[in-house]
Amino acid sequence: MRRMRPFAIVAISFAACACQNIERSRAVDNPAVAGKTIAQQVCSNCHGVTGVSVSPMFPKLADQPREYLIDQLTDFKSHHRSDPNARRYMWGFTHLTEAQIEELASYFSAQQSTTGRLGDTALVERGATIFEAGLPDKGVAACGSCHGQHGEGVGQFPRLVGQHADYVVKQLFVFQRTDSRPRGAVMKAIIANMSEEEMRAVAAFLEASPSATYDSPNAARPEGQGQSRK
Ligand code: HEC
Ligand code: HEC
Repeated sequence: MRRMRPFAIVAISFAACACQNIERSRAVDNPAVAGKTIAQQVCSNCHGVTGVSVSPMFPKLADQPREYLIDQLTDFKSHHRSDPNARRYMWGFTHLTEAQIEELASYFSAQQSTTGRLGDTALVERGATIFEAGLPDKGVAACGSCHGQHGEGVGQFPRLVGQHADYVVKQLFVFQRTDSRPRGAVMKAIIANMSEEEMRAVAAFLEASPSATYDSPNAARPEGQGQSRK
């Protein structure tokens, strides 16, 4: 059936009015729709037009490394990333083509991230220590060694800085207690002995950064990795 669609679309387009055009561009299962259009008309409902979501249920996507976004969209599409919210909200996007996934990743990785929100100071400071030094007694590696010195992310390692704390904690539980993220084996091993309190601390630090600790987390970022910000 899906192979028929392009012909149907061409046929309709001769007779289409503007409102039908809008309706059609909302249809995410149309391989002709540009990733940017999908991002702005569909993904934006939950993740925000510029990838800066409001609710912690929905992760911020702005300035995530392109490669990481492609990996995750591919895993949702193949139903390999399978935690309950992934199933509920992201499993429907099986129609995205590889080209659309790449365009979506380019779009969101090029968006400007926002500064963090200040949190409980003691918790944030404890989290900063965990982020920078890990928990040597518990075999927890320093987060910055993979996620970037400031949690800015690179390649397959997601950006963490500025992410909603509740989302971060939830994903840490997903890694620690389930196998529902196929690329998460390394995370599972690293945080195996982390307590909930330690997770909340590191998440509070990440949400609070960069405002709590430094002005410009990406000032030292190499050229050409997403957009830099002031
Ligand atoms: C109805 C709400 C909703 C819509 C629409 C939606 N998402 Fe999501 N998305 C979510 C939720 C919820 C999660 C978190 C899933 C989880 O907890 O594992 C998520 C997770 C993601 C992630 C993983 C982020 C990370 O940090 O690991 C990416 C990438 C993503 N969405 C991209 C998109 C794109 C691209 C679109 C449009 C094609 C889209 N989403 C549309 C709700 C939505
Ligand atoms: C050895 C490298 C490595 C170290 C060290 C590491 N991580 Fe990760 N982390 C990863 C990889 C790889 C992923 C992506 C997994 C995937 O694609 O599902 C990830 C994913 C995550 C995610 C999911 C982000 C999202 O948007 O869904 C969080 C949260 C996270 N790590 C937090 C941490 C914290 C906190 C620490 C330190 C305690 C840490 N990581 C240390 C490699 C690492």
